[in-house]
Amino acid sequence: MTTTSKHFPAFRRRLPSMAGKTIVVTGTTSGTGSVAADTLAGLGAKVVVLNRKSGRSASSFALLTAAHPDVDIHQVECDLQSFESVRAAAEAVRSLCPEGVHVLCNNAGVMALGDQATVDGFDVQMQTNHLSHFLLAQELMSLIEQAASEAGEARIVNHSSVARLRPSKTLLPQFLERNGGNLGGDGTRVQNMMFGGPRWLRYNQSKLANAAFTAALHHRFTQGGSPIKALVAHPGFASTHLQQTAAHEGGMSSVLSSFGDRFAQSAEDGAMGILSCIGLPEAQSGQFWGPGSGTNALRGPAKPFALESFYDNEETRNLLWDKSVQAVQLEL
Ligand SMILES: NC(=O)c1ccc[n+]([C@@H]2O[C@H](COP(=O)([O-])OP(=O)(O)OC[C@H]3O[C@@H](n4cnc5c(N)ncnc54)[C@H](OP(=O)(O)O)[C@@H]3O)[C@@H](O)[C@H]2O)c1
Repeated sequence: MTTTSKHFPAFRRRLPSMAGKTIVVTGTTSGTGSVAADTLAGLGAKVVVLNRKSGRSASSFALLTAAHPDVDIHQVECDLQSFESVRAAAEAVRSLCPEGVHVLCNNAGVMALGDQATVDGFDVQMQTNHLSHFLLAQELMSLIEQAASEAGEARIVNHSSVARLRPSKTLLPQFLERNGGNLGGDGTRVQNMMFGGPRWLRYNQSKLANAAFTAALHHRFTQGGSPIKALVAHPGFASTHLQQTAAHEGGMSSVLSSFGDRFAQSAEDGAMGILSCIGLPEAQSGQFWGPGSGTNALRGPAKPFALESFYDNEETRNLLWDKSVQAVQLEL
């Protein structure tokens, strides 16, 4: 079903030219990432999309390049369920982008999957949604720093969710540790229908980690006097492939998924948060962009609000950072 965009056309006209900028976006086979890649290419950016290999990545990339035949667009294979794949993707980006990276948008995500371990032993949701993006950001940091020092700024944009708010506002260490497949099981049918139980707690933790990662980056950049901006967005509730995947994997009922689709705003309207963080000149480091900060902020134009104290505090920032460094085995 295609949902009509209510706010996107006017928002799109506010975005400046992106000519001369190199922008890396993860997860562009559908949804908000697809809208972002198309919009940024339309604004003249060099766009590098990172996707795992599939029919969806081949066809979405063919559509993107056909829509923008004169724009410099590249696809790099990257499976966020594997640190080895992320490291190889970063290597490919380094050779494709000697000019530096002006924006890294960590958009890709999965929701309410079963209690599965990745090949690296971590929860599939936490590794896909946060840990691999943490690794990617570290691997691309020298290119981001290079762009920032030449252009005066660069940005790292993460994609969180209203799900950061519930069921837990506390980031728990076990979800960032090598406990994949041992984090509560798959939940009952009733729990999964009610957005409750362990699948949704694991999603909540991964989306809380996206926000805490932004807070940790912002704190580090501010302390070090860096011109790099760290921002985070959420799309409210947008009609994308996310709900279908969750239903297919047993995380929600297909009735709920198609009902939700009717209630949700369009993928374009949902992409306004990340696109604001990526492109609006007034977007500042340490801001959260989305339809609002509460649990009912599911639709509407993206506006900025402050990072929230339940993850933007020293203990949570340090927990997020130390556990993520340990997980991806970096020496920082
Ligand atoms: N839609 C909403 O209402 C909503 C609400 C809150 C937050 N969000 C967040 O918005 C972001 C974008 O999601 P969306 O709603 O646009 O959903 P979507 O249409 O399902 O897009 C998700 C993207 O992530 C990619 N992805 C998933 N697993 C991957 C992996 N292992 N390696 C590489 N790419 C992978 C998917 O690629 P494949 O084709 O390979 O699966 C797809 O391109 C996510 O971070 C999500 O948590 C969405």
